[in-house]
Amino acid sequence: EKGGYEHFMLKEIFEQPKSIHDTMRGRLLVEEGVIKMAGIWDHVERFKNANRIIIIACGTSWHAGLIGEYLIEEYARIPVEVEYASEFRYRNPIITDKDVVIAISQSGETADTMAALKLAKEKGAFIYGICNVVDSSIARITDAGSYTHAGPEIGVASTKAFTAQLTILTLIAFKLGKHNGNLGNADFMSLIAELDAIPKRVEEVLSSTHEQIQQIAKDFVSTSNFLYLGRGYNYPAALEGALKLKEISYIHAEGYPAAEMKHGPIALIDENMPIVIIAPKKGHYDKIVSNVQEIKARKGKIIAVVNKGDRQVSEMADYVIEIPETSECFSPIVASVPLQLLAYYIAVYRGANVDQPRNLAKSVTVE
Ligand code: F6R
Repeated sequence: EKGGYEHFMLKEIFEQPKSIHDTMRGRLLVEEGVIKMAGIWDHVERFKNANRIIIIACGTSWHAGLIGEYLIEEYARIPVEVEYASEFRYRNPIITDKDVVIAISQSGETADTMAALKLAKEKGAFIYGICNVVDSSIARITDAGSYTHAGPEIGVASTKAFTAQLTILTLIAFKLGKHNGNLGNADFMSLIAELDAIPKRVEEVLSSTHEQIQQIAKDFVSTSNFLYLGRGYNYPAALEGALKLKEISYIHAEGYPAAEMKHGPIALIDENMPIVIIAPKKGHYDKIVSNVQEIKARKGKIIAVVNKGDRQVSEMADYVIEIPETSECFSPIVASVPLQLLAYYIAVYRGANVDQPRNLAKSVTVE
């Protein structure tokens, strides 16, 4: 059942070229230049006329939501807020019938997300679900939705569900942007062609980084802290990289927007602090270069995720992980893959139970 892999988590990491493809299947019609999503299309005016979109979720799904905010605001120009379901439900939030609330949940059973959705529904918002588990409670209570079709995710740490959520959010952003005129046809066509090739890019990353990451992981088995940094679309990817590591390896890790480093975390940097920095060419590259210089000056150990052929960041880094170049909006999908592998191998070498980490459950049905 693990398909020859040692753990479900590794199997699920390697399934991503297929799961991302499955999530797009029947929806992304590149030749025709169309994105077909009945859940969106049947209610497209609700989205178009929304005062704002509020995304609610927990954990990894909340990280996907943060990237969703960047996507929907950039391409559809609709204001988006992202909130932890647990905070949203208890703070008497302002919700009207002009709001669209999107819940993101792999399991579709998360208690806080469910309760937040019920509240939004009572206040008249249109509620939309992005779930992986078909016919789950959240999928049933929502007015409409899109399944991620990533297939069953057994490992407690979410991997393929996350990249499938990003795929759906990308499709939604492009579809809404095309419909409301904020995303011109030429840009739309080139973006969807690139999206169509993402499963292949993920396949490339898996094969080009798998062995290298096992080597890197060996050097960090006894580390007790990690920082993960990224900017723009890759800031949430840094949060997610850090969450993966802490969940399964029990190493303390924090994700930060790279520019926030000088507002505090930089005090932590010395020769014992490994810093994973996501630095693709497209997306504030020059700014990242100066962040890396600041880390280097303080002797932090730099693990850089860069595009193939990168020079500036690579020259300063202790470890260089190369990913293919993509438009900025797709880079969290591609960059997340080596970070999943890094967390996985560090945990394996520490002897941790990666599929069943202590204290965690696959679906959190109590608040
Ligand atoms: C992280 C993880 C959790 C879940 C969170 C939400 O690897 O598994 O953080 O992402 O509990 O779960 P869902 O998406 O099922 O609502």
